[in-house]
Amino acid sequence: MRVEGEVPPFVRGSYLLNGPGRFQVGKVNYRHWLDGDGCISRLRLADENVFTRRFLRSSKWTQEETAGRPLFRGFGTTFDGDQLVRGIATASPVNVSVYRFGDRLLAFGEQGLPWELDVNTLETLGPWTFGGRLTEVTPFTGHPKVDPVSGDLMGFGVSFSASHPSLTYYRFPADDSAVVRSRIPLAGPYSIHDFAVSHNFAAFHVSPYRFSMTTLREGGSVLDALDWPRDESRAPTRLLIVDRHDGSLRADLPIGDRYCLHLANAFDDGSTVTVDLLEMDRPIYTDYRLASLLARVPTTQPVRLTVDLERGQVERRTTPCPFHLDFPAIDRARFGERTGSSWMLGISTTGSEHNKTYDSLLRADWESNSCEVLWTAPAGGFFGGEPAFVPDPDRPRAGIIICPYHQPSEAVWGFALWDAYEPGPPLARLLLEQGPIHLSFHSTFLPAAD
Ligand SMILES: [Fe+2]
Repeated sequence: MRVEGEVPPFVRGSYLLNGPGRFQVGKVNYRHWLDGDGCISRLRLADENVFTRRFLRSSKWTQEETAGRPLFRGFGTTFDGDQLVRGIATASPVNVSVYRFGDRLLAFGEQGLPWELDVNTLETLGPWTFGGRLTEVTPFTGHPKVDPVSGDLMGFGVSFSASHPSLTYYRFPADDSAVVRSRIPLAGPYSIHDFAVSHNFAAFHVSPYRFSMTTLREGGSVLDALDWPRDESRAPTRLLIVDRHDGSLRADLPIGDRYCLHLANAFDDGSTVTVDLLEMDRPIYTDYRLASLLARVPTTQPVRLTVDLERGQVERRTTPCPFHLDFPAIDRARFGERTGSSWMLGISTTGSEHNKTYDSLLRADWESNSCEVLWTAPAGGFFGGEPAFVPDPDRPRAGIIICPYHQPSEAVWGFALWDAYEPGPPLARLLLEQGPIHLSFHSTFLPAAD
């Protein structure tokens, strides 16, 4: 691997990324970004830098490889004879994220089982059921939260029952003791992709993005089954605050009429919970159609919600930003604590039919209520997945951002490092000889043990 520039000596460890990497099975071409089979990429930064990439051998992958053709209906792709798992759920391509839980490395997909990977080779070991507590049709998030101090993994799943829609919250302690599972009624069968967790609470931004099981059962895709009602008939968006430890509902408050795909962080002092997240006017899964990928995405605003649990009141602070923003990342060592910054990818020209790439790296400063562009790529260059922050152990408020970065016009594919606080071009680029890796979703950085 060729390195341009200098990688700071404290940047040692593994940057891991999950994302959809295969979009054709047999004669079927997938039509939606979320349909591609999960592929794990790893850049190991050490004396010798090593890149590894391996597809996840999920049940879906294995059954379709054996059959030599696609079998399962996708998030946004349907085809003749497509199947659901037990007739009620889509087969997860396990393509959303990858996290460490205890000694294990787990890959996650939307509303499906996690899969365990070999930590050295990235080979797929098998589904991870948390000791039999989840099954192949248990809804489970692609966005679990792992507390780096306690080791707890928090997650959730949504039941889209038309009569009794609900959210199930889970807390899995690292030692497998006292698992918490609580069921919280929802006002409707609403799609929820992400949540945030502080030391004492879990926060859910629940907008009325309605999912119809009837449409799915009658042959529609997940995208067909989702509906964002027109303004006048839309129920309010709500913020649910759940006790992280016992799973009880502590607050359910109206917070306007907007949509949130990803949250950045949450922190609390016992009676006040602060939640940092990104809001948009509407959902963007329709913008993930591959024929017009990200072409007309809306602008995004960083929002800080502060909830007074005793008074049942929410204070909202919005940061103006002309970009479409996504993939917020924080210093994961400060999980659940007050964090001033988060880093995210941006699309600088929203509304254009022609701009289809994440071309900017930004830092939101939630304390000063500002959003700063750290760097915008030259024409055609794009960022390829969630950035990760690596702190400088010798300097406070210092570190680097690592992210896949590609410049097709130069036939350059790989990763780059930026100063996390000072705007400017990459400090270093690590270039892959094997060519492009696909636009991916979520990352994690595992520091080297030495
Ligand atoms: Fe996500």
